[in-house]
Amino acid sequence: MSDARVIGVEHIEDARRRGRKVFEILPGDIVTSLAEETASRLGLELVYGPIEKEAVVKTDGKTSMRRNLYRRSPKWIAPDKSITQKAKRFSKIAIVGAGGVGSNIAHLAANLDLSDEIAIADIVPGLAAATALDLNHASGITRSHSQAYGAENLEIINDSDVVIVTAGRARTPGMSRNDLIQTNKRVIQATAEVIKTQSPKAIVIVVTNPLDEMTMEMLTSTEFPRSRVLGMAGTLDSSRFRLSLAKAAGVQVSDVEAITLGSHGDEMAPIVSHAKIKGRSLNRYLSDDEINNSSNDAITGGGQVVALKKLGSATIAPAHATIEILDHIRGAKSGAVPVSVMLDGEFGLTNVVLGVPVHLGLKGMISVEEIALSDIEKIALSAAADAIRKRLGLT
Ligand code: 2OP
Repeated sequence: MSDARVIGVEHIEDARRRGRKVFEILPGDIVTSLAEETASRLGLELVYGPIEKEAVVKTDGKTSMRRNLYRRSPKWIAPDKSITQKAKRFSKIAIVGAGGVGSNIAHLAANLDLSDEIAIADIVPGLAAATALDLNHASGITRSHSQAYGAENLEIINDSDVVIVTAGRARTPGMSRNDLIQTNKRVIQATAEVIKTQSPKAIVIVVTNPLDEMTMEMLTSTEFPRSRVLGMAGTLDSSRFRLSLAKAAGVQVSDVEAITLGSHGDEMAPIVSHAKIKGRSLNRYLSDDEINNSSNDAITGGGQVVALKKLGSATIAPAHATIEILDHIRGAKSGAVPVSVMLDGEFGLTNVVLGVPVHLGLKGMISVEEIALSDIEKIALSAAADAIRKRLGLT
């Protein structure tokens, strides 16, 4: 009797669920074309075997029995290697500004149970306390252990691991992020004074616009080392870029790897040279025009939300993008992630805060990863640096 199998979609999906990267096809097996398509969509490689197996490692009987029983269980799923087992739970996260972005960050942080305490500060009477109470009311359902509290008084941000600054004016239609420089600079300076005295060891994540300029202001005003003053923009812009590329190519957003660097504004630099769709370069799926349109979509993404909303800017995606930075800090995600930091010679640039790929850890920035860029991308990065310095009156 032949052992040949008919490999269908269910075999492929099952293998993927179990975390397999390779599916072994044995001589005589029949693979349906739908199974082939599914394997390609899910990134599972079909390999014609038999594959040479590594020699069995000798172990004691008890361990071998435990491993076998566990791994044979239908419920066994390979651990996701991008999630480390030692992700830290914060003791205290502080959020300055309980507007749309601040309250969404608090909501996600509580729901993900990221911190023992979530302190929210906002000058609008009652707003921060109401947001905190509202969040705590949900914990009977979410079973989150995070305790939120809020006040008008900025001093409640004391002794935080991370202070996230979202306070400041948001754009309305017709405004560029740069129109906010003078107003929001004062907010950053006042907040920095309190951070310095109340949370002198904190990592600060700036979300207030214009992002790169306000991160630079926070760095100057707190006099913290550059490793502890981070600007959130690249994670947001990269997410928008990935979505746009996925839509243009007709694939899932999870099939796309792409980042943006540079400024959080007109001088944003979507990095096409490193972008991949299903592990392949963009031009395997998209024309130059389509790639340019997706780049523009990322650059104008924030403005598109402002134009629709009229009374403010995006809140949900910026909150997720901030949580992505928190996840890199606490070790739940690894690898370089685009963050705005002060440059000290990296990419040939100094004395400017700009979005670049950064490795993060519990003390903030570990290092900037100087990825190889195309000539056009290098020019875009340097043009962004010039524009930011000019806006800050540094040239
Ligand atoms: C954005 O791009 C708010 O700047 C933020 O949506």
